[in-house]
Amino acid sequence: MRKLVIAIDGFSSSGKSTMARALAKEIGYIYVDSGAMYRAVTLYALRNGMVMPDGSLDTQALVAALPNVNVSFAPAGADGVQHTLLNGEDVEKEIREMRVSEMVSPVAVIPEVRHRLVALQQEFGREKGIVMDGRDIGTTVFPRAEMKVFVNASAEERARRRFKELQDKGVKADYDEVYANICERDHIDSTRKESPLRKAEDAVELDNDNMTPAEQMKWLHDLYIKIASAE
Ligand code: CDP
Repeated sequence: MRKLVIAIDGFSSSGKSTMARALAKEIGYIYVDSGAMYRAVTLYALRNGMVMPDGSLDTQALVAALPNVNVSFAPAGADGVQHTLLNGEDVEKEIREMRVSEMVSPVAVIPEVRHRLVALQQEFGREKGIVMDGRDIGTTVFPRAEMKVFVNASAEERARRRFKELQDKGVKADYDEVYANICERDHIDSTRKESPLRKAEDAVELDNDNMTPAEQMKWLHDLYIKIASAE
C-alpha cells in the first residue's frame, strides 16, 4: 500500500473531523485538525484584548504578536482525542466555545495568520501518512494530496449535529445561535480572498445528509483502499 496524504475539506460541522479522525486511527495515520489551529490563534487574540467590545479585531496587534503564538498538539490521551496546545497549554475545550467560533472566521481571513499556519501544516505532512481536515487542505496546503474528499450537508443538519456535539461536551449553546454562526462562517469562509473554501477539482464529493456515521466510514475506507492500492 502506498503512503498517502489525505485531505478532507468541507463546510462547518459537516462531520469532517469525526470521519478524518476515525480514518486516521483505523489506518495508523497521524490526524491533524487544521481548524483547531485557527481556533487556538483566535483564543490568543481574545485573551490578549485584541477583540474589541464591538466585536472588531485589532488585526495589526495580532499580526505583530504572531511570532509569540505557538500552536501544537499533544498525543491523543485516554479520551482518544488529540488535544490542541496554545503556547504549551491544553486549550482543547476552550477553543470549542461559542466566543471562539464567533471570531474564528474573521481571524482566518488574515493572510499572515494563514501563511504561518499553512507552513506548519505542510511541515506536519512532510513524511506523508497523514489525514488533515479543514477548508483549504486539498487546494492550498496539500494541492498534490493523493486523496481528496469534499464533504457537504445542509446547514440545518450541520447545525443539529454541532448543537448536539456541544451539549454532549457540556459546552453551553443555543440552537439558533449555532445555526446563525454556521451560516455566517460558511459565508466568510467561501468568499474570502485568501484560499477560500472551495472543492478542489480533483476532490471526490461526499454529501452526507442522509448517511449514517457507519455508512460514511465505509465509503471513506473503501476510497482509501482503492487509492492506496493503485499503482
Ligand atoms: O469544526 P468546524 O467546522 O466548526 O470548524 P473548524 O474546522 O474548527 O474551523 C474553524 C474555522 O477556522 C473555520 O470556520 C474557518 O474560518 C477556519 N479554517 C480555515 O480557514 N482553514 C482551515 N484549513 C481550517 C479552518
